[in-house]
Order: sequence, then C-alpha cells, then structure tokens
Amino acid sequence: MQTVDHVRLSEDEEELVILDQTQLPNRQVYLRLRTREELYRAIKELQIRGAPAIGIFAGFAMYVLARQYPREGFLARFREDADYLNSSRPTAVNLSWALRRMTHAAEESGGDLAALRSECQAILEEDIAMCTAISEHGLSLLKEGDGVLTHCNAGPIATSRYGTAIGPILLAQEKGIRLRAYCDETRPLLQGARLTSWELSRAGVDTTLLCDNMAATVMSQGKIQFCFVGCDRVAMNGDAANKIGTYGVAILAKHFNIPFYVLGPTSIIDRSCPTGKGIPVELRDEEEIRSKWYREPMAPKGVKCFNPAFDVTDHSLIAGIITEKGICRPPYTESLKALFE
Ligand code: MRU
Repeated sequence: MQTVDHVRLSEDEEELVILDQTQLPNRQVYLRLRTREELYRAIKELQIRGAPAIGIFAGFAMYVLARQYPREGFLARFREDADYLNSSRPTAVNLSWALRRMTHAAEESGGDLAALRSECQAILEEDIAMCTAISEHGLSLLKEGDGVLTHCNAGPIATSRYGTAIGPILLAQEKGIRLRAYCDETRPLLQGARLTSWELSRAGVDTTLLCDNMAATVMSQGKIQFCFVGCDRVAMNGDAANKIGTYGVAILAKHFNIPFYVLGPTSIIDRSCPTGKGIPVELRDEEEIRSKWYREPMAPKGVKCFNPAFDVTDHSLIAGIITEKGICRPPYTESLKALFE
C-alpha cells in the first residue's frame, strides 16, 4: 500500500510535521508546528483529524512541547498544556486518552524526555498494529465483489496505516480481492469526498462517491452488502459516536437489512460512559454550512444553522463492533466488558 507520512517529528525533533488535511485532495501541503497555539489550532481546524490520528498527534505534540519546558515547573507546564490541547475538540476520546498516557509517563519518569519520546512512539506503533488487526477482522466478513458503503473518513490519514472502516477494503485490494467502495461525501466538511475517495482511488479500489442523500437509492438497488464506519467514542452499551450522518446510514441499513458495522480500536471504548447519552457532541461554526468550500455563500447571510459534528448511533442498529481483539456482538454490555477482563 502506498503510505502517506501524515504525522511525524522533524529531524531535530523540535517540530511536528503534518499533512494539512484541509488542503486535500488538491494539494499535499505539510505544516511544521511547534507552539501550543499552532498545535491546538491544527486539531480545532481539522488540519489533523480522525480520532486515532488525533491521539497520535497529541502524543507527539506533548513531546515537542515538553522539549521547550525549563526543568523548574516542568510537570505543571506539562499538565497545563495537556489540558489546553484537550479542550480543542470534545468528542474523539483518543485525544484525552493519549494526553492521559503522556501525562502519566511525564509524572512517572519525573519529566524524562526519553520516556516521553518512547511513549508517543508506542502510541503510534500500537495504532499501526491495531489498524492491521481490525482490517483483518473486517476482511473476514467480506467476499469478492461485495459493495461496502462508508461515511466520513476512517482511512490511513485518520489513523496510522490501513485505517479502521476502510482498512478491510484496502487490505482486500492488496490481496487481490476486488470490492466496490461507496463513499458518502459527508457534508459539511466533505471528508468522504476529499479524503476517503482520494485514499481509495489512489489505492486502485473501485470507488464511487455519493452525496449523503443517495445512500437509500444505492441500498435499494442492491449495490451495498455491508456498511463499515469508524467511530470517535463508543459507550459501554455499544452506542457509537461518529461523524454526523452515520446514524441515518445505520437506520437505512436496518431498513434494507444490510449489516452495519462500527470499526475502531479498543482505545475508543469509553469505560466511564455507560450509554451514548454521556458522549459530548461537538458543535461547530455555522459558516461551515453556510459558506465553506464554495466560491459564494450558499445560504442567506446569517441564516440560523445547526452544525453538530457527530451523532450517536443506537447500539440496536449495530451488527458488530470490530476491534483489534475481534468482533464484538450484541449484547454489547457483555461483549465490550469482556474486552477488558
Ligand atoms: O471530524 P472528523 O473528521 O475528525 O471526524 C472523523 C470521524 O468521524 C471518523 O469516522 C472517526 O474519527 C474515526 S477515524 C478512524
């Protein structure tokens, strides 16, 4: 698979170098980030995005920042910057998870830079292994010729390698198994159009881009055998938060009797969250709906908009949750709990 180096340290380790995802697919622009404000903005403005990639980014970001702290007051600065980065986006649980891991490593080692370096590297390497395992478990469900619909982007640039939801499709392609991928464009920020259809088509996968309101039509035509989506946080009863519009896809899939799977690493399961009601949903700038991406505004100036970035799919609509440890089936209160025993 052709990989894109989308999060890495600069050679002198003074900066974090990321592929600016807001510029894709037209331009591959790399940003060099060093200050806490630049790092915060990169998450907030979706230059880096996708729950696992945000976690990997946060690990390296804390290492880059830690290198700038004087010895005196090191841990206080570390905790303050971790809290600041954590406030950039609320839904993807990997952000707080990775920041907690880095803070723990800082506390345990008394602020040792080598320990912090190895912790952020571990977060990256674990993600690569998790994506590979998730892709294999997902692929075990598929056969030659199947049509798979996905929403938003849960590919290599949202993770480390392969991705979660589109990992099985990319792995199948590598193994010479031909599938058909359908990507929802994913209004308002077009992650499906700009990112997923780019990642899949450059890998040579038979890829069809759809507007979000076309899923029912392709399902009714028998073109979709599976829905595979990523997730930003999963509650212990199996309710799963993912990009806005995912819930609607799950309801349609139920209507057409198409199995709907959620794919994500176990780090995405929030053990402190019994049901989806406890998942905080990010509200974003209304301009993303009114005017972003278009040469002219496409709605009247100042018209009221509602712009939640995520929705929570009810567990009753989910056929399985595919993690690196295998496929969890309902009842999720039991199968998710068993993952941690
Ligand atoms: O707002 P985004 O682009 O960060 O939302 C991303 C998603 O909803 C993804 O599906 C999810 O983070 C999983 S990425 C493997």
